[in-house]
Amino acid sequence: MENQKKLIIGLFGFGVVGEGLYKVLQQTPSLNASIKKVCIKNYGKKRNAPASLFTTDKDDLLNDLDINVIVEVIDDADAAFEIVKTALLNGKDVVSASKKMIAEHLPELLELQKQTGRSFLYESAACASIPVIRNLEEYYDNDLLHSIKAIVNGSTNFILTKIFEEGLDFKEALLLAQQSGFAESDPKLDVEGHDAVNKWSFLLTHAYGIIENPSEILFNGIQNIHIADSIVAKTKNRQIKLVAEAKKLSNGKVAAFVLPQFVNDTDPLAFVKNEFNGVVIESSFADKQFFYGKGAGSFPTASAVLSDISALRYGYKYEYKKLYHHQPHQLSDDFFLRVFVSFDNLSFIPRNRFEWIDEWHIGEERKYLTGVISFSALKESNWWKENGNSLILLPDSIIEETHTRKIKKRSLELAGIA
Ligand code: HSE
Repeated sequence: MENQKKLIIGLFGFGVVGEGLYKVLQQTPSLNASIKKVCIKNYGKKRNAPASLFTTDKDDLLNDLDINVIVEVIDDADAAFEIVKTALLNGKDVVSASKKMIAEHLPELLELQKQTGRSFLYESAACASIPVIRNLEEYYDNDLLHSIKAIVNGSTNFILTKIFEEGLDFKEALLLAQQSGFAESDPKLDVEGHDAVNKWSFLLTHAYGIIENPSEILFNGIQNIHIADSIVAKTKNRQIKLVAEAKKLSNGKVAAFVLPQFVNDTDPLAFVKNEFNGVVIESSFADKQFFYGKGAGSFPTASAVLSDISALRYGYKYEYKKLYHHQPHQLSDDFFLRVFVSFDNLSFIPRNRFEWIDEWHIGEERKYLTGVISFSALKESNWWKENGNSLILLPDSIIEETHTRKIKKRSLELAGIA
């Protein structure tokens, strides 16, 4: 098209995603976009692109007046923020894949977008190839969105699949995730749930207008899951997944967290294997919808970066509709969760913190219980992440009817159990 804006890109980072983007762009000449310079940390490594393309000086990109788009795919969150900030202030549009940076700096990034009027797009930062941000932003109206349940981290899903379905041990599975380019440079970020909660924090902004630092959202990873937990799951026709969940409560607020969950074999999320991600959205009229696609890896992530670059041709910006045009939602602590907890040592289980306990299985080598606990009780202390304890949510875990709780508690008291 004649009048299409020519996009001259300055690319920061040439790792798994950066190199993927370079290759993908070469195969997409119709986009009318080309990379002018790539900024890397050191020249040392051999790279599959002409040496003249590379620089180690960020100003070669940020101060180049020809470059109108900065694409930033590095994994140092602090450096990434400085790059994005300078690029926006220098009048450039920005595409980023830095989940941690976006999660930690969202309020400043919102201000910078207002101040500069430039586009800042980051579809690849959550669920890679699945267009979840643009869908939440454009398609779903605030009032209609009842809940979202999602697998947002490819590495942990890959590891769970390899351990529980293919019999690999944890180290082998993690190594394979690293070799495939799915894992973060520090894989603890994946395994302990940090990456998932980072993504969840800004998905909550696009879904519900919630601005919350990830450190304030309750989360765990897969590090405590015990092999015996998967045996319990199998006997009940369930699988264990790391699930990010948000649900609108009857008090108008939103329950949100990232925790391991048992999902029934019939649940769409049970079909999500390996590095795939999945998002199940429930809304008033559309009912249930399921998005599925690769959530990590070079080309799937580059495909989302490419889609953002393409959107810049027509000046696309996130409007943050749920934040600016609707009444933003707040998070709630006022609900209860149905949980499974497995453990080695009963003395590390604070029984009095539970509303009630439904099942005790303390005859087995690996003991477990199921019961109901308030969300606030989980927030108050970390006993459920420590001393070999493993907490996994049961399906349909969220309970809000407190009268049910009171009745149950009363009946246990009358029976002399509570
Ligand atoms: N380490 C991330 C994951 C990469 O496994 O999901 C994609 O964000």
